[in-house]
Amino acid sequence: MKKAIGTIISGSLADGLIMRLAPGTDPESIKTGKFLCIAGSQHRFFSLITDLSLAVTHPDILLFPPSKEEALLSELLEKKDIYATAALKPMLMLGKDLQPVPVKTIPPHFAQVYEADHKDVALIFGDEADPSKKYFNIGVPLDMTTPVCLNLERLTERSNGIFGKTGTGKTFLTRLILAGLIKNEKAVNLIFDMHSEYGLQARKEGKEHSFVKGLKTLFPDKVAIFSLDPDSTRRRGSNPDVVITIPYQSIQVEDVLSLQSELNLHATALEAAYLIFAKYKREWLSTLLSQGENLKNFAQDIGAHPESIAALYRKLKRIERLPFFTNASGAAQQDHNVIDQMLEYIDKGINVIVEFGNHTQTFIYLLIANIITRRIHKKYIEKTERFLGSQNIQDEPKKLMITIEEAHKFLNPQAARQTIFGIIAREMRKYYVSLLIVDQRPSGIDEEILSQIGTKVVAQLNDEKDIQGVLTGISNASNLRSILASLDSKKQVLLLGHAVTMPVVVQTREYDETFYRAMADGVTTKQIDELVKELF
Ligand SMILES: Nc1ncnc2c1ncn2[C@@H]1O[C@H](COP(=O)(O)OP(=O)(O)OP(=O)(O)O)[C@@H](O)[C@H]1O
Ligand SMILES: [Mg+2]
Repeated sequence: MKKAIGTIISGSLADGLIMRLAPGTDPESIKTGKFLCIAGSQHRFFSLITDLSLAVTHPDILLFPPSKEEALLSELLEKKDIYATAALKPMLMLGKDLQPVPVKTIPPHFAQVYEADHKDVALIFGDEADPSKKYFNIGVPLDMTTPVCLNLERLTERSNGIFGKTGTGKTFLTRLILAGLIKNEKAVNLIFDMHSEYGLQARKEGKEHSFVKGLKTLFPDKVAIFSLDPDSTRRRGSNPDVVITIPYQSIQVEDVLSLQSELNLHATALEAAYLIFAKYKREWLSTLLSQGENLKNFAQDIGAHPESIAALYRKLKRIERLPFFTNASGAAQQDHNVIDQMLEYIDKGINVIVEFGNHTQTFIYLLIANIITRRIHKKYIEKTERFLGSQNIQDEPKKLMITIEEAHKFLNPQAARQTIFGIIAREMRKYYVSLLIVDQRPSGIDEEILSQIGTKVVAQLNDEKDIQGVLTGISNASNLRSILASLDSKKQVLLLGHAVTMPVVVQTREYDETFYRAMADGVTTKQIDELVKELF
């Protein structure tokens, strides 16, 4: 029989329960975020520790604390009068039928509290070895070794977010989750890789010259690299599958709209852009950029304010310096463009990484991600409608998940209203497209969008506004707040939402040789553990 680490002494359904630590349990061995099981008479209540405190049976004891020498007195007090308590928030309960249900009742007085065991974790979070391949090991609960799994199928049903301040491991975790999705083929991914960290290799902090494998390296046949900077891709050891070029004629005013705050574009400059478009259609940008000295006449010609045109010209002129934009003026519609190529890969179930190489300015990232995503989304609407019309299962589009870093730049309240990413986040994958947003400043993201995120993976955040932001739309948020505040600064996250049965704190899975092996051979963590045991 397992030893109880405490008993429930008070509490309520709304505010959580108070456990008295069993005598002899060192409070320093218990951490917030720890995963515990309360044995009620008919249910087991799975809970997280949200707070710890010290208590005494009588306040007078505190007036005369025992000195160091008074060992006997100390011992007596410890037995009876001084103790530690932990605040527990039950997140889920299991009845006799072992079906997890939301917590609607409380255990009786003096219910015993145990550490959750392997069976509990597997029962609640699913088992990686399940033949449906929908469970993906993402880490272990604090001080435990049994993996907590994300339900990948549920993950792809909504848009999701990975949050945490800089250096907490967001990119590593995102790569880990993407690897799971790719390996188990639960969604096709389109990844906008601003810092070239997903494709071929990525630097690991710590040891000098230490690198980890990228997704293309792990899954050469399932990942294609589309590069804006082929030289940079080659320098990192591989030819890109496709070199991206985009004609000016493909840039629409809506694409420029996404740059409004980044380029500090005034609304009147955008109005001017619409005026140019009204006259020149697809040639609007090439016409504007070719004006040079002639701006004043040009403004008059289209009936726009000269200063607005001048501002627009000045700000968009930098596009000319970017080698991947081409001027295909006068040429017929480019028949086989980059977007079509990308869709061909996606239709085959091949994941696409868009590498920016040395083009790491935010405005480029925003512009390219918007241009590509808007077109892909449009095609997905067509595909979905075709499928709804034919109801032929072969026409069903493949689920597409789009990963963006620095998400607040795409989804701040202003951008979220106007740009494609806001639309995708809000329409809840009606058209088979969802987002995986990675961000260090969640408070910058539109609230409505935050509240619609299905699964949140949250690493340490210090800013109060950010903590509040990630907890938008979550009931019992106050309990989670203290857990968030006490996360380690690296490789520890709170998981909550649609793809996990209950909120839980995990130590993230290591992205290392063992992980590569698991991805390559399809063996589960448990099998690897057993192999290692056999070997040594
Ligand atoms: N799961 C993991 N396995 C191995 N190492 C990890 C893991 N998570 C984080 N690390 C280590 O932490 C470092 C920082 O992680 P990462 O680059 O993912 O942080 P980040 O949150 O994306 O930071 P930024 O906001 O600056 O982009 C990595 O270089 C790596 O050394
Ligand atoms: Mg990062």
